[in-house]
Amino acid sequence: MTTSSAPVILGVESSCDETGFGIVSEGTLLGQGLASSASQHAEFGGVVPEIAARAHLEAAVPTLQIALADAGVELGDISHVAVTSGPGLATAVHVGLAAAKSIAWSLDVPLYGVHHLAGHAAADTLEHGPLPERSIVLIVSGGHTSILAVGDLVRDPIEHLGDTLDDAAGEAFDKVSRLLGLGYPGGPAISRAAVGGDPAAFSFPRAMMRPGDDPFTFSFSGLKTSVARTVEALERAGEEVPVSDIAASFEQAVVDVLVAKSVRAVTERGLDTLVIVGGVAANARLREVARRRCDAEGIDLRIPPPRLCTDNGAMIAAVGDLLVRSGAEPSGLRIAADPSAVLHGAQLPLLR
Ligand SMILES: Nc1ncnc2c1ncn2[C@@H]1O[C@H](COP(=O)(O)OP(=O)(O)OP(=O)(O)O)[C@@H](O)[C@H]1O
Ligand SMILES: [Mg+2]
Repeated sequence: MTTSSAPVILGVESSCDETGFGIVSEGTLLGQGLASSASQHAEFGGVVPEIAARAHLEAAVPTLQIALADAGVELGDISHVAVTSGPGLATAVHVGLAAAKSIAWSLDVPLYGVHHLAGHAAADTLEHGPLPERSIVLIVSGGHTSILAVGDLVRDPIEHLGDTLDDAAGEAFDKVSRLLGLGYPGGPAISRAAVGGDPAAFSFPRAMMRPGDDPFTFSFSGLKTSVARTVEALERAGEEVPVSDIAASFEQAVVDVLVAKSVRAVTERGLDTLVIVGGVAANARLREVARRRCDAEGIDLRIPPPRLCTDNGAMIAAVGDLLVRSGAEPSGLRIAADPSAVLHGAQLPLLR
């Protein structure tokens, strides 16, 4: 329960193809609204920035209204606004940022520009409560794959133990889905196709897993190429492409690497918590394999429910709520979009 004087934070998300508004107070998600333009991008095989931006404009007000109704609050009850100011598609981020500024200005309340990936991590706190003093966070999303050492999410600098050299895990799902003719977004499509498939039917490469390779760095472009070569070879030979087996084997290859590297980070750092977040964390095989492995290693595994893994406004409100409660300075109305912001901290600085 919240008290009448408790801060009520509105979070605004528009960095890709989801328009999200979420309302959080003192660590509790009060309600949210979410719209997606994914179906409008399907025929192009990936997100078209101009289409995403227009869809955000169309969806913004109705989605905000849904969030307010879901939370049972009035617009005037909002005490702070938090918004994704980067990273993301510039045209898309601008729409949410302009909406958030309009709301903050008209209500005369503080505005915080937050890092989208910190939002993915904060999403977990809405389900499982505050993060422990230190944890390893694996971010696996459409544009990023990183292993992070995290302390207090909004006060401490975020340490990158490793990132991907090329494709993000979600990007690999999207590209492989396209080449198997399964459509966009690729993650859920591959997952569906993989049901009943044999994950050992094809032994696709697990990159950066040899002794001497950086233990926390990822690479997924070779895996995607290997799937493409396999499909080409089958087609050249006039054989039927076993989509289900390929999808399951591809999924298994990604999951094996993600789980092995992130569990290693937890044990090498002497920690006991692994948090897996971002759109790919919705993947059932990843959730199951990580659960099994962490149980065996005595690691506390935290993964948000699937609806909080993919982009949403609640996760941005969650960062705003943490910032407000930690006494952080608001960003103010001058905050600009930073489409390629690197994750060093939860709040994005003014660019100059
Ligand atoms: N069930 C699933 N299995 C695997 N991948 C999934 C699943 N659901 C979604 N994804 C993938 O997650 C990605 C979308 O996640 P998210 O919304 O976090 O990414 P993004 O916001 O586009 O990128 P970023 O957060 O890096 O800016 C897509 O690549 C999608 O294919
Ligand atoms: Mg995202």
